[in-house]
Amino acid sequence: MIPTVTAHGAQIPAFGFGTFRMKGPDVRRMVPHVLKMGVRHVDTAQIYGNEADVGEGIAASGVARGDVFLTTKVWVDKYRHEAFIASVEESLRKLKTDHVDLLLLHWPNEAVPLAEQIGALNEVRRRGMTRHIGVSNFSTALMAEAAALSAAPLVTNQVEYHPYLSQRPVLAAAMELGMSLTAYYAMADGKVLGEPVLQAIAAAHGRSVAQVVLRWLVQQPGVIALSKTVSEARAAENFAIGDFSLTEAEMAAIHALARPDGRIVSPAGLAPAWD
Ligand SMILES: NC(=O)c1ccc[n+]([C@@H]2O[C@H](COP(=O)([O-])OP(=O)(O)OC[C@H]3O[C@@H](n4cnc5c(N)ncnc54)[C@H](OP(=O)(O)O)[C@@H]3O)[C@@H](O)[C@H]2O)c1
Repeated sequence: MIPTVTAHGAQIPAFGFGTFRMKGPDVRRMVPHVLKMGVRHVDTAQIYGNEADVGEGIAASGVARGDVFLTTKVWVDKYRHEAFIASVEESLRKLKTDHVDLLLLHWPNEAVPLAEQIGALNEVRRRGMTRHIGVSNFSTALMAEAAALSAAPLVTNQVEYHPYLSQRPVLAAAMELGMSLTAYYAMADGKVLGEPVLQAIAAAHGRSVAQVVLRWLVQQPGVIALSKTVSEARAAENFAIGDFSLTEAEMAAIHALARPDGRIVSPAGLAPAWD
């Protein structure tokens, strides 16, 4: 069984299917496929340009909307109050649903006061357009500021997290605030696959490196792993991580792979001062 992470009452399946860099036809093929396989968490964003395909995929899956934990994100150029509300309305229309389960600020944007961004998040939550709210790509300082400004609790910070990038301070801050950490780029854009330490652990369990990395993520308290693939076979492989465990020594050996230059995603003009 893949666990559920609970944060401020939100029950978030610890394995989510990601849809970044996925074209419409792939989304419409893969989303119903993974839902039929048992995945119950799907992650998209306005900026991915595929919310309508995600909505179609969920509708075509035969899985009830209420059984799927659906996340989308508001892009940084829509953080002014009115634009924010309109962006979420458009997301819901495209997703063919009257609410998402989780709505995130996609990246920080200093051009709009954080209080206004958090105010808009709370407003759409009050209106029932999302059940829960959170942030993405926030530093510990921004997490604390955002949490202090928010009437409703923030339930996650979605950040890059894989064996080459330590997220120890962000994870500690999330735990302190009662939040979860949602990990993206688990495969480090493919770089983890050739890692000898991971290959040895994978061999010891008769598993793949991808499974070991995803297992390492979901085995950490409060951590949710996102995983994207356009392949049915790889989707089945990635989801099959509920029936084995890594030892404490293996968990530690994977943590020890973190390196100072491990971060991959840090777009100029968007990235905050990282921890
Ligand atoms: N909040 C943010 O700013 C942010 C940023 C990035 C991502 N995300 C979210 O996080 C999700 C996951 O991130 P991601 O899609 O960038 O990275 P990822 O899940 O680490 O996947 C990276 C690549 O690994 C390949 N892969 C997947 N499973 C594999 C396996 N078992 N063996 C070998 N290769 C495998 C996939 O290629 P194939 O498709 O060819 O299998 C995929 O393109 C995204 O889809 C998105 O929902 C959020």
